[in-house]
Amino acid sequence: MHRDFQRPARTGLTALVPAYNEAGHIRATIRSLQRQTAPPEEIVVIDDCSTGMASRLDAVRDRIRFVQGSILDPAALDEAMAGAEVVFHEAAIPSVARSVAEPRASNEANASGTIEVMLAADRHRVRRVLLAGSSSVYGVPPSLPCREDMPTAPTSPYGVSKAAAD
Ligand SMILES: NC(=O)c1ccc[n+]([C@@H]2O[C@H](COP(=O)([O-])OP(=O)(O)OC[C@H]3O[C@@H](n4cnc5c(N)ncnc54)[C@H](O)[C@@H]3O)[C@@H](O)[C@H]2O)c1
Repeated sequence: MHRDFQRPARTGLTALVPAYNEAGHIRATIRSLQRQTAPPEEIVVIDDCSTGMASRLDAVRDRIRFVQGSILDPAALDEAMAGAEVVFHEAAIPSVARSVAEPRASNEANASGTIEVMLAADRHRVRRVLLAGSSSVYGVPPSLPCREDMPTAPTSPYGVSKAAAD
């Protein structure tokens, strides 16, 4: 995923503090970026810590700039994204159960949040945005593994919000 950057990137990395995954998507992404032959000048993480824990970033804290804020807040996104070349958009409330219990919050973070990320990326002329998708958009898939050419048929508010983000 990160191999084709041709020049040193000033990379804005939008929100991911793994809430339960000790290995950590975000830390793996940060380490992968830093192993590039032309690593980014700066890696910025924005997270509102609503479901994640900032302490999970302690192991990489000296290698990032951390903005505590919501992707629903354009000013916070501007602070994180100014000068960014590439954005990894991982922020979400990634829970089917929570999306049923709190559909508005789930939809705001996952669908509206993605619109705000894209608008901010446009304001800052970001070259590329990578969005973390979800197999939940396929509902009960006709076969496994899921393929991106399968029809989407989400069966939860979470799946609908991720399909909207796509
Ligand atoms: N975990 C999985 O199995 C899985 C599978 C497929 C896709 N994904 C997707 O990968 C991404 C990361 O998932 P994860 O499981 O690591 O989630 P996670 O809950 O560990 O991390 C998501 C982070 O987003 C933050 N966040 C939520 N709302 C925010 C907001 N409005 N502004 C800023 N930050 C906000 C949370 O505080 C949390 O730290 C999500 O987009 C999810 O939909 C996850």
